[in-house]
Amino acid sequence: MSDKKRFTSSRKLDHLRICAEEAVESGETGFSDIRFVHNALPECDMGSIDTSARFLNHTFRSPLFISAMTGGHPGTKDVNARLARAAERYGLGIGVGSERAALENPALADTFSVVRDEAPHAFIVGNLGVVQLRDHGIEWAEKAVEMIGADALAIHLNFLQEAIQPEGDHNAVGCFAALADLCREFKTPVIVKETGCGISAATAKKCWGAGARAIDIGGWGGTSWAAVESVRAAENRSADRRLKTLGETFSEWGIPTAVSLAEVLATGGPVIASGGIRSGGDVAKGLSLGADLCGMALPLLKPAMENDESLFAAIDTIQQELVTTMFLTGSARIADLKSAPLYILGRTRQMVGKDNPIRVPRYQ
Ligand code: FNR
Repeated sequence: MSDKKRFTSSRKLDHLRICAEEAVESGETGFSDIRFVHNALPECDMGSIDTSARFLNHTFRSPLFISAMTGGHPGTKDVNARLARAAERYGLGIGVGSERAALENPALADTFSVVRDEAPHAFIVGNLGVVQLRDHGIEWAEKAVEMIGADALAIHLNFLQEAIQPEGDHNAVGCFAALADLCREFKTPVIVKETGCGISAATAKKCWGAGARAIDIGGWGGTSWAAVESVRAAENRSADRRLKTLGETFSEWGIPTAVSLAEVLATGGPVIASGGIRSGGDVAKGLSLGADLCGMALPLLKPAMENDESLFAAIDTIQQELVTTMFLTGSARIADLKSAPLYILGRTRQMVGKDNPIRVPRYQ
């Protein structure tokens, strides 16, 4: 195996360890500016609340989506297997981490395909970086889908992370054209996904224009890849010390999740809200603003690194919080949440309120 391939794979373990052990969250999603109006006479039965959701012609038992995290090193296979068992058990959608390592070295494919083995009925989203798409074309996209029997392929955008990584790719030229070519030629639905900096209305319009079938906003306020890469730079004696500081500085960079969600929804859909979603209450807020699904990564990683029971308990808690929020807003179905009244306060209101050129009915 070449040093470059071994490096892609070992980086995957670094990322899991750093995310599980270090402080890698940064910023404000804007969800604390959003409050549901309590309904003291909800006229619905908490025991028969229906949390099923639709996205890309698939029905999910819950709108909670397990965001892309891992695969690509033998040490990540058990984590992916556990996340997949949870997806199968709870009827959730699930994303795998970037499949690049297994496309460079097919011996690692089982660290991804284990997800399909453990979740034969789940909606599984493959994952490839836009730089790898530009450099390797549709052939890698096809292999990424085949490897896991994917129902959709996420093309991730992570230029902040690339800018901080010593080995990062700093040239984004040609990426949009590669994305548009893929959307035009590919049968499998393409989801454009950010990884913690959010997507603006202008970028969303470009993505819909290119033929994206969905957008996962990956907004600011949760896991910060600037923070993760800053920790990696501090640990690596041969890395440029300035990268540690650059990572710290740019952990403040990005569009808050609630704001990005409003901007993207003003341009079209369907949309996955993600980035700093930390509870079933946050899931309910994302849906109420108009998201179709809400993705979580970090809060599921730690329990998934322990055992099945811890992961199932974490999902039970999130689901219970979602159902309780639905009950207290009188929402018997997910569709009802979309008309549940909200207070929108503070900076989030300033960023997307009626004085802002981006018109989002829910925020007026
Ligand atoms: C990620 N994320 C990610 N995203 C992606 O598109 N491809 C990837 O390979 C990875 N890898 C990855 C590893 C780990 C350990 C974490 C925690 C996350 C990003 C993830 O899907 C999500 O967009 C962000 O983490 C924001 O969500 P949270 O973590 O704030 O809930």
